[in-house]
Amino acid sequence: MVIGKPRYGPANSDVAALVAPELVKAGVIGRASDLHSQLASSPWALQVCLGWPRRTHGLLDVWRRGTRMGAVRHLEARSGERRRFLCHLLDVLRDQGFELAVSPLLTDRAARPFTRMGFGEIERLVVLKKDQLRSASGDRVCEIRSAEATDAQAIAAIDAACFDEVWRLRSPDITAMLPETTAFVAVRDGRTIGYNMVSISRGAGTVGRLAVMPDCQRQGVGSALLAAGLSWLRDAGGTSVTLCTQRGNVASRRLYARFGFELLPDELALMQKEIVR
Ligand SMILES: CC(C)(COP(=O)(O)OP(=O)(O)OC[C@H]1O[C@@H](n2cnc3c(N)ncnc32)[C@H](O)[C@@H]1OP(=O)(O)O)[C@@H](O)C(=O)NCCC(=O)NCCS
Repeated sequence: MVIGKPRYGPANSDVAALVAPELVKAGVIGRASDLHSQLASSPWALQVCLGWPRRTHGLLDVWRRGTRMGAVRHLEARSGERRRFLCHLLDVLRDQGFELAVSPLLTDRAARPFTRMGFGEIERLVVLKKDQLRSASGDRVCEIRSAEATDAQAIAAIDAACFDEVWRLRSPDITAMLPETTAFVAVRDGRTIGYNMVSISRGAGTVGRLAVMPDCQRQGVGSALLAAGLSWLRDAGGTSVTLCTQRGNVASRRLYARFGFELLPDELALMQKEIVR
């Protein structure tokens, strides 16, 4: 039982080892070692209720490297404590010099404490799922190959052309992600014109990113990339694949529908709040 006000603070390595399995179970991190490497560079990232870390914990991160956007990646707290704990998490982000806090992807229910803290919705996402990964083939409209570390800048250029500020990955983000994820690039006449990223955890596949340079869209490149990603997931033992896309993104929703993705009932919201002092 907690007597008096709960005290919050950063987790030490013993506490992190206790909380890591909870974060893996919640799908926030892939492996416990991901948390330990994050804490090595950002010891403030895992905040807990001292004495009750498994009940109350929150994972913070940089939303985009090189920006002042911080992220609340995960929040676990009892309903009576959520607001106070979220307040603490925002204080930590502010102390780290962040000026904007971005929420995790939230169901309407999970969004409540964020709304009460003054977060506003940036975007509404739909969740799409495809079961039974059969062989998928795209037309051969360009070369599709595995991405390499040297592709980071070209991928960043695609993101800059395709996504708004909040979604856009920069070169340092991509460099950090490439060794941890499976990515494909589409190349035509020596130019990198599209990419996607996929991942798998216990048979559940995810398409994390998919983008094609605007002047090369509607030529089958997105389909070819998606087909390559789905084939990789199937060969890696994937039994289903899930992804999120903006509710109003007609192009991607049509593309995913053509590949047999179906809409799941829950929508998710991405929210943000300015946290400048
Ligand atoms: C979504 C995206 C990757 C599609 O790439 P693409 O190379 O244009 O896709 P394809 O040429 O393979 O198109 C396949 C099908 O998708 C649908 N589609 C693609 N673009 C469309 C558009 N602008 N409007 C309506 N449907 C579209 C069509 O059904 C199309 O088949 P069709 O051309 O025979 O009608 C591309 O539009 C893009 O990069 N958008 C910006 C980034 C983005 O939103 N990514 C998805 C985030 S999850």
